Amino acid sequence: MTRGDVISPGLSLVGYRGTGKTTVGSIVARELGWSFVDADRTLEARAGRSIRSIFEQEGEAAFRDLEEQVIAEHTSGPPVLIATGGGVVLRESNRRALRAFGTIVWLTASAQTLAKRISCLPESISSRPALTASGTVAEIADVLAERLSLYRTLADFEVSTEGLTYAQVADAIIAIVKNHHRPPANQ
Ligand code: S3P
Repeated sequence: MTRGDVISPGLSLVGYRGTGKTTVGSIVARELGWSFVDADRTLEARAGRSIRSIFEQEGEAAFRDLEEQVIAEHTSGPPVLIATGGGVVLRESNRRALRAFGTIVWLTASAQTLAKRISCLPESISSRPALTASGTVAEIADVLAERLSLYRTLADFEVSTEGLTYAQVADAIIAIVKNHHRPPANQ
């Protein structure tokens, strides 16, 4: 999927948990010499606690408010590569901010692949809250179904991560950048 030539300077990665946004984003930024920010890490640093604890103590709506503030902050600063949290697409304000900021790349994988990857990530278990009470695989299928059209409508490019290493996904994004994207003027 492409929207043709995209010339905005910012770049953001969207997609479900386990698609590798943070790892791939940091590889792409390093290879291109760009600055990289991870919206969830910024949020935890600002809040002084983990996402899991924000969900547990204040609920998802409070987390989404913080997420909206962080996205507004990162998209109003200098152009960088932003790795977003999987639910960033839920709020229209985030979608508008990311669109105005620049190119949006959607990383995808099947629910089965995501479930396998998520269950192999100790960090995700300790710091990421459950989004539903239905258990990992069912939750992924349910939440993905809800979000699919939001990701699809928002993204300029879709990159399937199925069967690819992080480095291969990074290469696919770098190819997109080289073919369609005007790099930040200040980098
Ligand atoms: C969420 C995904 C998480 C994090 C929060 C909510 C979601 O980010 O923002 O736990 O709603 O899908 P990652 O996609 O980086 O795991």
